[in-house]
This record gives sequence, C-alpha cells and structure tokens, in this order.
Amino acid sequence: MTKPRRVNITGEHAAVRSLSQKEKHKLGFKGFPHLVKRTVREKWNPNPAYSTAMSMAHLLFPSHFPRLVASGTDKRSVFLEAVPLNRTSRKGINGFYEDMAADKNFLKHRSKVKEEINVLAREFSKAGILINRFETNVGRTPKGNLVFFEVGAINVRELKKYVEALPNGHKKKQAAELLGYLEKIAEGNQIIHVHSKDKN
Ligand SMILES: Nc1ncnc2c1ncn2[C@@H]1O[C@H](COP(=O)(O)OP(=O)(O)O)[C@@H](O)[C@H]1O
Ligand SMILES: [Mg+2]
Repeated sequence: MTKPRRVNITGEHAAVRSLSQKEKHKLGFKGFPHLVKRTVREKWNPNPAYSTAMSMAHLLFPSHFPRLVASGTDKRSVFLEAVPLNRTSRKGINGFYEDMAADKNFLKHRSKVKEEINVLAREFSKAGILINRFETNVGRTPKGNLVFFEVGAINVRELKKYVEALPNGHKKKQAAELLGYLEKIAEGNQIIHVHSKDKN
C-alpha cells in the first residue's frame, strides 16, 4: 500500500494535519492507519452536520470520500483516515494553498480532474450529496480514483429517497440512522449546508 505523505494544510474553514504516532497512541488510535485531524478554525462555530454528512458520504461511496474515524470532544475536531494522493494532485493542492489559483501545479491538477468531478458530482447529487467542486477539495489516489474532501450540502429529501431505495441490510440500517440525525439537524429544511459558516 502507498503510504500517505504528511498533511499540513490551513484551509479557509479548517486546519488539517497528520497525527503523529505519539498522538495516535495518546488518543487510543494505536494500530489505526495514518490519520489526519481536521479542526474547524472558528471556535464559536462547530457544525453538527459536518461529521454526519461525511460519514454518510463514505458509507454510500466508500472509494470517493475519506473515512471518518471519530469526532473530538471539543466539537470542532474530527479524525479521518489520511488519503494518499498521487504526485500531481498533491502538488496541485499544496500549490494552491501556497500560491493561490494561478499556481501552475494547481492548474495542471485542475485540468486533470475537472471533467471527472462533474460526472461524479452528478452521481452523488442523485443521493442528495452536494459536493464542493473546487479542485483543492478533490485529490486523486495513486490507484487513480478521485476522493472528495468537502461535502458542501445535503439535500435531505433526495438523500431520503436514495436511502429508502437501498437493498435491505446493514448498510441501509446505518444510512437510515445517519439520515435521522441529518433530518433532525435540518428541522424541515430541504437543504442543509455542511461547510459554510453562515448558512447553518
Ligand atoms: N482525510 C484527508 N486526507 C488527506 N488530506 C486531507 C484529508 N482531509 C482533508 N485533507 C486536505 O486538507 C484540505 C482542507 O480540508 P477541508 O476539509 O477542505 O477544509 P477547508 O474547509 O478549510 O477547505 C483539503 O483540501 C485536503 O487537501
Ligand atoms: Mg476545502
């Protein structure tokens, strides 16, 4: 298996960094794969929809969304499995965060993922999962599949239809439970925003 490189990114909304072995031990994650810790930067604005939406996205499309392992007690942090990225997407995402949108590595990454993002975004939207299509939020793994780091919003009605149509079994049960949380958070709204601070 390809080892993920260390991640240390301060995004607009959150800071994401790799956990050291020592931290993993201390937090009881010994034996887990490489993990990252994602911490929302505004202390006053924890988003209850984020972790539920990401768990749902991973449950329904496991090869396209990172696995959320735990939520921190501070309500601002989550721990996710680190996704290994191929060289082009890693350099492209880092290039953007260092140098913004005109960075040539970012432009190369963007041109390689743009079309595929649109195709997959349509597929996810049929399940009510609306992704942030901006290319910093999408990486390609060394095996070649695209992984999405930001669920932007959930269309609760579409998601409900999709979950109801799943074949009976463990996955459907889990999805129904997560859907229940999202419905409570949504309180009658059709769309809930997972990422933006002023729309929740
Ligand atoms: N599980 C992960 N594995 C590897 N990199 C990650 C992971 N989660 C996030 N990242 C990186 O951190 C960046 C910022 O995370 P994101 O959740 O999009 O925060 P923000 O809301 O600040 O954009 C992502 O664009 C991605 O490059
Ligand atoms: Mg982002």
